[in-house]
Amino acid sequence: MPKKLIIGNWKMNLIREESKLLSSSILNILGDNYDKCEVVLIPPYTSIETVYNCIKDSNTGIGAQDVSSELFGAFTGEISVSMLKDLGCEWVIIGHSERRHIIGETYEDIRKKTNTALEGGLNVILCVGETEEQRDQDIQISVINKQLESALSGVNKNYLSNIVIAYEPVWAIGTGKNAEPEDIIVIHSEIKKILTGLFGNDGNNIRILYGGSVTPDNIVSIISNEFVDGALVGGASLKSDSFTKIIMLAGV
Ligand code: PGA
Repeated sequence: MPKKLIIGNWKMNLIREESKLLSSSILNILGDNYDKCEVVLIPPYTSIETVYNCIKDSNTGIGAQDVSSELFGAFTGEISVSMLKDLGCEWVIIGHSERRHIIGETYEDIRKKTNTALEGGLNVILCVGETEEQRDQDIQISVINKQLESALSGVNKNYLSNIVIAYEPVWAIGTGKNAEPEDIIVIHSEIKKILTGLFGNDGNNIRILYGGSVTPDNIVSIISNEFVDGALVGGASLKSDSFTKIIMLAGV
C-alpha cells in the first residue's frame, strides 16, 4: 500500500515556544529520517517560521490553516500564498468546517482560495463533510458533492496531484465521536465517484483523508484499508506522544 499521509492541524493553539517544543519532540520521537508515513504539521501562522526551522532538514512538511483568495493588496488581516511560500509552506488547509461554519466562509470563498492556492504552487487540503443535522437527514453525499463540485469544477487537471481531500464529518470534529470505519469507506468511495465524475480517471489519483476525533486508539481501524489515504488530526496532534503514536500505527 502507498504511504499514508498524516497531517496535524494545531488550530488556534500554541505560542512559538510551545510550537518549537512540540515540533522538536515529534521529530525526536520519529527520528529525522522517518519515512514510513508522509507527515505534515499545520501550526498557526505565528508559529510557521519557528516550526519550519525545526523541520526543514527532515522529511516532515509544513503548511497553513487558511490563505487569502487574493494575491496581495488592501485586505487587512489576510495572508497571501506568496507569504506562506516565503515561510517555507508547501501545504494549506482550505474549507475547514470551522471556517465554513464559525467564520462563515462561502462556497465561492472556498472555490477562489482553492484556485489561488493551486495556481500559486501550494498543495491544497480541501475539507468537506456533513453536519449532524445533514447526517440525520441522510443527505451526506449530496452535501459533499456540492462542496467538491463548487470548489473543484474549474480546476485544471494539471493540479490534481496537488489536491488532497479531507472528509471530516462536522459532528465528529473535537467531539470524541469518530465515524465508523465502514461508513468512512462508503463515503470515501462516493467521494472517489464524484472526483472521477469531475476529472475522469485522473480523479482516482486524488488522495482522500479522514478527519474527526482521530486518536491512537482508533487510527488503525480507520485507515487500514485502501479507501483511506491518511488522516487529518486535530486535538491528538497537540501532544507529541499521541501524534507520533498515530503516525507510527499508520505507518506499519
Ligand atoms: P479533531 O479535529 O481531531 O480534534 O476532531 C480534526 C480537524 O478539525 O481537523
